[in-house]
Amino acid sequence: MEKRELLYEGKAKKVYATDDPAFVIVSYKDDATALDGLKKGSILGKGAINNRMTNRLMQLLGEQGIPTHFVRELSDRETVVRKVRIVPLEVIVRNISAGHFASRYGVAEGMVFDEPTLEFSYKNDDLHDPLLNDSHALALKLATREEIDWIRACALRVNELLKAYFLERNIRLVDFKLEFGKTADGTLVLADEISPDTCRFWDATTGEKLDKDRFRRDMGGVEEAYSEMSKRVFGGE
Ligand code: TMP
Ligand code: ASP
Repeated sequence: MEKRELLYEGKAKKVYATDDPAFVIVSYKDDATALDGLKKGSILGKGAINNRMTNRLMQLLGEQGIPTHFVRELSDRETVVRKVRIVPLEVIVRNISAGHFASRYGVAEGMVFDEPTLEFSYKNDDLHDPLLNDSHALALKLATREEIDWIRACALRVNELLKAYFLERNIRLVDFKLEFGKTADGTLVLADEISPDTCRFWDATTGEKLDKDRFRRDMGGVEEAYSEMSKRVFGGE
């Protein structure tokens, strides 16, 4: 497959056209942003870790019946994926209070929920990704009722699968964000990435943060956290 022109550059990835209109190539960058793009930096080696980890997790989910955009890893930073139109919803699942859940509702981080929570944000940087509910998403025609129901069920299933997968690696999956996309024929698939940029991972024994919160909160040890997560997923592979 041939790489063609740059279609889109986001905060952490670039997307290139290919010679086949059904597929694009994503290229993962080391760039990192936080606080709505106000804080900028770079995390050495992040692009390669996020590419490889996302692909491993998407393959695992695919084997469990979750349709994903993943096609084929090309190189340490580049992957062929199905071309989709991203549904402008950030789908956030939480198992333990942290981040905006803790600040928004005035609770400490670390509260373990009896049931996972699921929330939607409107993916719109100009509006700072406001929180919204089903009826708002419907009113804004971001997705249909059937699509929203399917996305919710799929995200909760992804949570069950990933929670168990990471616990086997002594990692608590605190929360994460998913994005879904629609292919040209209207099929919904899991898209974007699943990485320490988009998940909170805490060591199950020590509680140590092994994700992008170390960058967001200037905690230091950022690269070390990403490479530790890579070790937990890939071991010596
Ligand atoms: P939050 O507590 O800041 O709402 O984040 C919840 C989860 O979603 C956390 O694992 C980080 C992830 N996330 C993103 O991937 N992108 C974003 O823009 C935000 C705000 C959160
Ligand atoms: N990457 C997002 C931003 O720049 C948010 C985050 O991951 O904290 O706003």
